Amino acid sequence: MGPLQITAAILALAGTALSAPATPSAKYCDPESEVCYSSSTVGIAAISYRLAIPNVTATPFDLILQIVAPKTAQWAGLAFGGRMVNNTIAMAWANGNTSVISSRWATAHEIPEPYEEAEYTVLKGSVTNETHWTVTALCKGCSTWIHDGGSKTVLDPNSPSINLAWAASPYPVGDPADNYTMLGIHSEHGTFSLDLAGARTDNFDSYLKSLLI
Ligand code: HEM
Ligand SMILES: *[C@@H]1O[C@H](CO)[C@@H](O)[C@H](O)[C@H]1NC(C)=O
Ligand SMILES: *[C@@H]1O[C@H](CO)[C@@H](O)[C@H](O)[C@H]1NC(C)=O
Ligand SMILES: *[C@@H]1O[C@H](CO)[C@@H](O)[C@H](O)[C@H]1NC(C)=O
Ligand SMILES: *[C@@H]1O[C@H](CO)[C@@H](O)[C@H](O)[C@H]1NC(C)=O
Ligand SMILES: *[C@@H]1O[C@H](CO)[C@@H](O)[C@H](O)[C@H]1NC(C)=O
Repeated sequence: MGPLQITAAILALAGTALSAPATPSAKYCDPESEVCYSSSTVGIAAISYRLAIPNVTATPFDLILQIVAPKTAQWAGLAFGGRMVNNTIAMAWANGNTSVISSRWATAHEIPEPYEEAEYTVLKGSVTNETHWTVTALCKGCSTWIHDGGSKTVLDPNSPSINLAWAASPYPVGDPADNYTMLGIHSEHGTFSLDLAGARTDNFDSYLKSLLI
C-alpha cells in the first residue's frame, strides 16, 4: 500500500464517504477456468468486477460476470447503467463456502427490489475461502433494460469503455442463503469503466459449457 491508499483506508474506517479510484480496465484470465475477462478493481476494500461476452456486435447478449471481494464486503453490487436507480443491478455475497447472486432493481435510493427480467445462473468458481468470496455467474437479460416507463438502454459490445457503478456494504444481509433477502445500505460506492469490446471472446459457448455446475 502506498501512502495515499493508507490515508484512504484510515478515512474510510473513520466513516468518510471517500472512494478509492478504480483501476483502468485490463484483460484478466482466470487461471482455473481460463476464461478471459475485462476487469477493474475498485474501492478501498478492493473488489474486482469482471465481464466476458460472446463475440457479437449488437445487443442482446448473455454475459459472464465475476465479482471477487474480501469477506469484509458483506455484499457487493454492480449496476449495469452506471448509477443506482432505474437500471439492472447484480448483488452478491458469501454463503458458507459458496456465494449467492441476486437480481435487483432500484426505483429510488432505497433497498433494490427483486428484478425478474434478468436471470443469473451460478457457475463453477463461486467459492468462499478464509479471506475472500467469488461469484461467477451467467446473466441472461443484463445487456438491455427498459426504464422510466419505456426508454430502452443497451450495452454496446463494440465500446472500449462502458460506464458501470458499484457499491459495497459492511452490513450482513438478512439470510445469505436467500436471493430475495433484505439488506442494508452501502458504505462505499462509485463508478468505473470496462472495455466491453475487449471482453468479447469466440470461446464464450465453450467457456460456459465447462463452467456449468
Ligand atoms: C439497501 C440497499 C441500498 C440502499 C438503502 C441505498 C441507498 C442509497 C442512497 C441513500 C444513496 C444516496 C446517498 C449516497 O450517495 O450515499 C445511494 C447512492 C448510490 N447507490 Fe445505493 N443503496 C442501496 C444499494 C445499492 C446497490 C446494490 C448499488 C449497486 C451498484 C448502489 C449504488 C449506488 C450508487 C452508484 C450511488 C451514487 C448515486 C447514484 O448512482 O444514484 N446502491 N444509495
Ligand atoms: C462446503 O461446505 C459443505 C457443507 O458445510 C461441505 O459439505 C463441503 O465439503 C464444503 N466444500 C469445500 C470445498 O470446502
Ligand atoms: C433467485 O434464484 C432463483 C433460483 O435460481 C431464481 O429463479 C430467481 O429468479 C432468483 N431471484 C432473484 C431475485 O435473483
Ligand atoms: C482466497 O480467494 C482469493 C480470491 O480468489 C485468493 O486471492 C486467495 O489466494 C484465496 N486464499 C486462499 C487461502 O486460498
Ligand atoms: C426512475 O423511473 C421512474 C419511472 O419508472 C421515474 O418516475 C423516476 O423519476 C426515475 N428516477 C430516476 C432517478 O431517474
Ligand atoms: C470476433 O469476430 C471477428 C469477425 O469474425 C474476428 O475478426 C475477431 O477476431 C473476433 N474476435 C475475437 C476476440 O474473438
